[in-house]
Amino acid sequence: MTRTSPLPVSHEQTRDGDHRLLTRLQESMTTLLIRELHTAGIQHGQRVLDIGAGTGTLTDHLARFVGPHGRVVAVNTDTDQLRPTSIIDVHCRDIRTEPLPGEPGTYDVVIARCLDQQHAHRPDTIEQMITLLKPGGWLVLGELTYAPTVVYREPDAENASALITVVADAVLAALINDDQLMNWGTWAPATLLRYGMEHICVFDHAETWTGGGPGTAFLADHARRLHDVLLQAGLPADDLNRFLNLVMDPALVMRSFPTGTLHARKPR
Ligand SMILES: C[S@@+](CC[C@H](N)C(=O)[O-])C[C@H]1O[C@@H](n2cnc3c(N)ncnc32)[C@H](O)[C@@H]1O
Repeated sequence: MTRTSPLPVSHEQTRDGDHRLLTRLQESMTTLLIRELHTAGIQHGQRVLDIGAGTGTLTDHLARFVGPHGRVVAVNTDTDQLRPTSIIDVHCRDIRTEPLPGEPGTYDVVIARCLDQQHAHRPDTIEQMITLLKPGGWLVLGELTYAPTVVYREPDAENASALITVVADAVLAALINDDQLMNWGTWAPATLLRYGMEHICVFDHAETWTGGGPGTAFLADHARRLHDVLLQAGLPADDLNRFLNLVMDPALVMRSFPTGTLHARKPR
């Protein structure tokens, strides 16, 4: 049986905080964030706060932008993978319970990409980020967002499009893992406006994924990881196996999971 209705995967079932497999999406988001940083006029000598720096991929880019006279302050709960350098300061902090490092009004750019979603958008976190910015400083955010799956070309198999759509939607909902983020693109600008930020721009981005490519491999990895949750939600095991084969078929072309990036300026 092939389901065509949404799979009722609850966020609670998938709230495990495992972000390792987000890497592939983060790579494509890096290009977008670099564009945002150029808009924000990032340059040598500036001070940047990187919140939820994770493995430091973005932190290293930031260090190159600010150069030897600049400073990147990287914060994460777990700092094993972050290397302090003459440019990069590393702070081991849980931003839910500890203040962000730095004095008010001292950063040119504050950036948070794919921060653990339950915390990234708490009003007190946003307020702290803005307080730490210099007047005229830029806040740059990047997140995985939600849009229904679209199959542009389906493999030649019965109900292929319906099955791919229902499983991919369930995987994306599980990855986002937060109701508020489902509407990030509309919610985040409204919040920033309330805090007096200006020049707010949000960009939604999606690519195409072809069956057997890195994007659909990412999708398949997650579907495998969510095996028990998907079956519990009513997906027959045969359909999950069929899905895993379909997403490796080069005939498949679908819209990628969407990402959103945002920049906003603190008034001078
Ligand atoms: C998906 S990773 C993103 C890493 C990095 N921003 C990037 O885009 O490459 C999210 C990171 O946020 C960190 N994080 C989550 N909640 C946090 C918290 N409350 N305080 C500090 N770091 C947190 C996690 O440990 C994880 O390394």
